[in-house]
Amino acid sequence: MVVEVSAKIALLPGDGIGPEVMAEAIKVLNVVADRFGHVLEVEEKLVGGAALDRVNSPLPDETLASCRDADAILLGAVGGPKWDDPERSIRPEQGLLRLRTELGLFANLRPVRVHPAMVGVVPLRPDIVEGADLLVVRELTGGIYFGARGRREHASGVQAFDTMTYSTGEIERIARVAGRLAGQRSGRLTSVDKANILESSRLWRSTVSRVMRDEFPEVQLDHVLVDAAAMYLIQRPTCFDVLVTSNLFGDILTDEASVLAGSMGLLPSASLGSDGPGLYEPVHGSAPDIAGRGIANPIGMIASAALMCRWSLKWTAAADCIEAAVACVLEDGARMADIAESGKPLFSTAEMGTKIAEAAAQLEVDTEEHQETPCVPT
Ligand code: IPM
Ligand code: MG
Repeated sequence: MVVEVSAKIALLPGDGIGPEVMAEAIKVLNVVADRFGHVLEVEEKLVGGAALDRVNSPLPDETLASCRDADAILLGAVGGPKWDDPERSIRPEQGLLRLRTELGLFANLRPVRVHPAMVGVVPLRPDIVEGADLLVVRELTGGIYFGARGRREHASGVQAFDTMTYSTGEIERIARVAGRLAGQRSGRLTSVDKANILESSRLWRSTVSRVMRDEFPEVQLDHVLVDAAAMYLIQRPTCFDVLVTSNLFGDILTDEASVLAGSMGLLPSASLGSDGPGLYEPVHGSAPDIAGRGIANPIGMIASAALMCRWSLKWTAAADCIEAAVACVLEDGARMADIAESGKPLFSTAEMGTKIAEAAAQLEVDTEEHQETPCVPT
């Protein structure tokens, strides 16, 4: 059965390797859209440093309007050394932060899975990583990213400050997302904080406990301090299923967790609000050191497009097909610089995109299996 559904996507390639990996995601999306009878309407807009250079704003009004009007947003990456001067007042990253707040994208979901074909690539012992499959639910529109900050005179010179704030409302809504997702998975949830030191973490801990007790009694909750969580993630990652944590801790822990998958270049993410379009972007950044060399791994971006199909567009068969195509290509031994393995061919960004697109066009997909509407966590 072919269902004709059209979707409007705002494309924000951004900086560094963003445009290169975005091109491959579009290649794959076009294939699955064609295959499953969907129609993609895309509108490309400026964001980040690219927007700063052209129109002196990291999130031009036109870009924001296009995002609001879209069914979903695909973003490559923002930032780079060109705009890194610490004395700069406008920075590319502000475009992304503003987009997250303007659209109310408070829940950032970052799944980390060790694909069986990657076990030999991961720089940790296979017996440690085998079977690791976790989901980090990162709060995205609060915490120290958005608290009061500034500089002031101080006896010892200038003092700079950032503030980590959390309200019960902010904690409750992210706890509910995590509770729902834990319920759909193994029923285990780990909340990560620094409650032995931070007041915001103590409120976080008691609020998460209350929400779980009152609304998700079936979920088995435990609390882990962020320093210990950082250690457990690479020491015994299989003990985690769903993790929920604040903006800053989630930022740091997901870069660490990406090592489990083999490379940061493989990881997708979804940022969702309670309504409106979701934003999908790879976890990796703009990687300026490899930009323009044709070696950036497009899998994180392609997998983000799959999450977009699943959660925002409800194109379940297309999402399954993309994910299966990625798995199949990795199993076939296709490798890239960041996931190199001796004796296996090294692909360029475009070659990897093409190989995944070809697999997506040819893979056998049982459409009957894909009729269920996916449960959107927010
Ligand atoms: C991420 C990135 C961003 C963040 C930057 C680019 C603003 O590191 O999405 O993890 O810190 O949230
Ligand atoms: Mg980050």
